[in-house]
Amino acid sequence: MKSKRLITGASQLVTLRGRVPRRGKALADVGLIDDGALLIGNGLIAQVGPRRELEALPEARTAEKIDVGGRVVLPGFVDAHTHLIHAASRAEEYELKISGASYEEIARRGGGILNSVKKLRSATAEALKNRALATLCKFAAYGTTTLEAKSGYGLDVASELKILHLHEQLNLEQPLEDVSTFLGAHVVPEEFRQKPGGSRQYLALLQQKLLPEIARENLAEFCDVFCDRGAFTRAESKEILQAGRAHGLVPRIHAEQLSRSGATQLAIQLGAASCDHLEHVSQTDVRALAQSKTVATLLPGCDFHLCLKKYAPARALIDAGAIVGLATDYNPGTSPTLSMPMILSIACTHLRMTPAEAIAAATINSAYSLRRQKSVGSLEPGKQADIGVFEVDDYREIPYYFGVNTCWMTLKKGEIVFQRGSPR
Ligand code: NIG
Ligand code: FE
Repeated sequence: MKSKRLITGASQLVTLRGRVPRRGKALADVGLIDDGALLIGNGLIAQVGPRRELEALPEARTAEKIDVGGRVVLPGFVDAHTHLIHAASRAEEYELKISGASYEEIARRGGGILNSVKKLRSATAEALKNRALATLCKFAAYGTTTLEAKSGYGLDVASELKILHLHEQLNLEQPLEDVSTFLGAHVVPEEFRQKPGGSRQYLALLQQKLLPEIARENLAEFCDVFCDRGAFTRAESKEILQAGRAHGLVPRIHAEQLSRSGATQLAIQLGAASCDHLEHVSQTDVRALAQSKTVATLLPGCDFHLCLKKYAPARALIDAGAIVGLATDYNPGTSPTLSMPMILSIACTHLRMTPAEAIAAATINSAYSLRRQKSVGSLEPGKQADIGVFEVDDYREIPYYFGVNTCWMTLKKGEIVFQRGSPR
């Protein structure tokens, strides 16, 4: 049996307790407790409340104490959109982007997603795993305790299965939870582009070979599609997401990132868990999202990295009542960051979200989009003791100090998975 722990000394305990998911004004309700404490037992949260009340509990006396010395305590971040497994960076494309080449131009010149596909296909599973393990340690060091991980840089049967098997192994071999998503429909791979009817043949491969195998081996919970110019049309996306659904995979979608494709309406129609990016949504899309249970997951790291000025209309989405989430979109092409604190900074400055809204979007609403709202995303009794401790006096300073990692300690299921060396 795992030990009991009592966390005290939180100048602010940001619980995010209460209503799930958070919409509209409720998004800013972070459930703050000043001088709060947390009692942990068996990796779960047993009690949350003011320090005095918790210290008076009989169980608190025997618990191991962790005094966080006046720092701020949050639920661990839930990063609901990452492309965790890739073989290498695409730093070689960075200067092209800076000099003005668009994401699509770079892809036409042999860069882009297919560049990462080449690199991944020639990498061994061991090399990919070691890279991912190192990356997951860094996620923990920025306060993330649960993340979604997409395939999508393999794009053939063996390579996609290689990635999905790695998602499974990583869950067994390190403490953070990765939630597996199949993104075989990222783009049409090179070998199918050259043949007439190639994209139809690729879609058939996904449906006839990959999806049945993934379902048989239980390798993914979600199915995603990149629905945009240069990737898949709305009709093709619908076909793949429906096939995924028939195999028990819940839809998510890359929507309206580079252009308006109608992917948002499709996501809602299919009851997708999440609809991501949304830079080019229309007012009708915003209204439809507000009436739906599909999370609008915003990924402002992409616009920041690609020097794009058009960010998703976060304020309109929040004010209309959509369920807004935030994620890093950690990937080598459009958002090479795993820092949720940096995403909070971009969300506050460029999406005009308040620090409270951004934190709720990156915790409880993201947990909802991953169907994990009962176990993670807030600090409430019965949930996993997934906790981030930040070296600040006030939670608003987490996004305020942009580019500075203020994460001081991270716990997953009550165990310390990251701790900064030097004391305050
Ligand atoms: O979320 N848009 C599609 N997928 C990724 C980019 C992948 C890449 O460029 O490697 C995204 O932005
Ligand atoms: Fe993505």
